[in-house]
Amino acid sequence: MDRILIRGGRRLSGRVPISGAKNAALTLMPCAILTDEPLTLRNLPRLADVDGFGHLLNQLGASTAVEGARAGEFGRVMTVRAGRIASTEAPYDIVRKMRASILVLGPILAREGRARVSLPGGCAIGNRPIDLHLKALEAIGAELEFTAGYVEARAPSGGRLPGGRFAFPVVSVGATENALMAAATARGTTLLENAAQEPEIVDLCRCLVAMGARIDGIGTGRLEVAGVDRLHGATYAVMPDRIEAGSYACAAVVTGGDLMLAGADPADMGATIAGLRQLGATVEEGPEGLRVAMEGRPRPIELSTAPYPGFATDMQAQFMAALALADGASVLTETIFENRYMHVPELARMGADVRVSGRTAVVRGVGELTGAPVMATDLRASMSLVLAGLAARGETQVARVYHLDRGYERLEEKLGAVGADIERVSDG
Ligand code: EPZ
Repeated sequence: MDRILIRGGRRLSGRVPISGAKNAALTLMPCAILTDEPLTLRNLPRLADVDGFGHLLNQLGASTAVEGARAGEFGRVMTVRAGRIASTEAPYDIVRKMRASILVLGPILAREGRARVSLPGGCAIGNRPIDLHLKALEAIGAELEFTAGYVEARAPSGGRLPGGRFAFPVVSVGATENALMAAATARGTTLLENAAQEPEIVDLCRCLVAMGARIDGIGTGRLEVAGVDRLHGATYAVMPDRIEAGSYACAAVVTGGDLMLAGADPADMGATIAGLRQLGATVEEGPEGLRVAMEGRPRPIELSTAPYPGFATDMQAQFMAALALADGASVLTETIFENRYMHVPELARMGADVRVSGRTAVVRGVGELTGAPVMATDLRASMSLVLAGLAARGETQVARVYHLDRGYERLEEKLGAVGADIERVSDG
């Protein structure tokens, strides 16, 4: 198993190219199921989860052709063609490894009038039920049954979904995505209220519209989808990854560095940028992307995660690593997931002073962190350990880096190019 070794204390400076967004890619890829024509996705990040989704699409009968990026370039182009759906089932063996697989449920049901998808089960950061996915699909006309750990969904008499209206009691990114994809080819109109407004949802809507869908209210919490008879193929570029960009912004903060996050879109990063400025970073928005520079210790701040446009839960752990070095005490509140502080005991091994009580973490800044062997537990937690390692005196060894590979494309290369002393070692 691979580990990442970081010898910290170096100031980072230079240009970091931002890849396409993982969380957009994972909802754009299943759109290919909605048409028998090719969907070409540009700027697709090279990530384990994207590869996993490609395998799932192959399993359903779709072909996936990848054009390799030129040497030194990031991302790639993938053309997915679901000319014929060979299977309407997403098996447990794939779904248990990648929760996002649930995002084929709506598209398969819309395309074939029936679908069988394994229930995803638990996750390190929380229970993560899918009840809202199912309720939204039922509201659009799906009939559901549960057998042996699977949900079996059917459209009335195996035909097209009629459409309907659903008000989400809680904002859910995934459930909004599933409902949108299912509604695009429904016989009637679908109204989704209190829908998620994340930039990845906007990216999904734009891709569906490029395929011929009719959606009103894009970017708001009220989405109206007028179902169309069929969708056609398209070529679409995945949006830049705002969470990857925010993570590297924190790398500039913890090393007192100066980084140009090339290709980042500041328009998608309002709350993150506000947080960076609050803790004392200089943030410049420009045509090339986002420049983030830091001098001195971060200032302590108070932050609470929330659905977009609030502060992203996917940035909480990275900010905690920065605030572990702040000149005072900060308060973080995690409102989205009930178990998203797995990084705290690992940061404590490096000398951080964090007290968690329920959903709230009090982070008392320390003057210095010290390198240590630490264990990654989930994607964003592992990035917070890398950030702490970049700042720490001595060597940090991050184990279980497969968590990182799920969401960060060629991390060591990107950090090494701006001055980090970082390498990946394999224990065979
Ligand atoms: C997406 O997960 C992202 N994943 C997550 O990013 C992100 O943390 C999350 O949205 C919130 O922004 C992808 O896009 C692949 P939700 P998702 O449905 O769709 C509850 C990362 O690090 N809920 O918005 O699963 C749920 O338990 C990952 O890249 C229900 O109760 O998140 C949670 O508390 C981690 N019932 C809240 O809603 C449901 O049916 C928000 O979850 C669905 C969700």
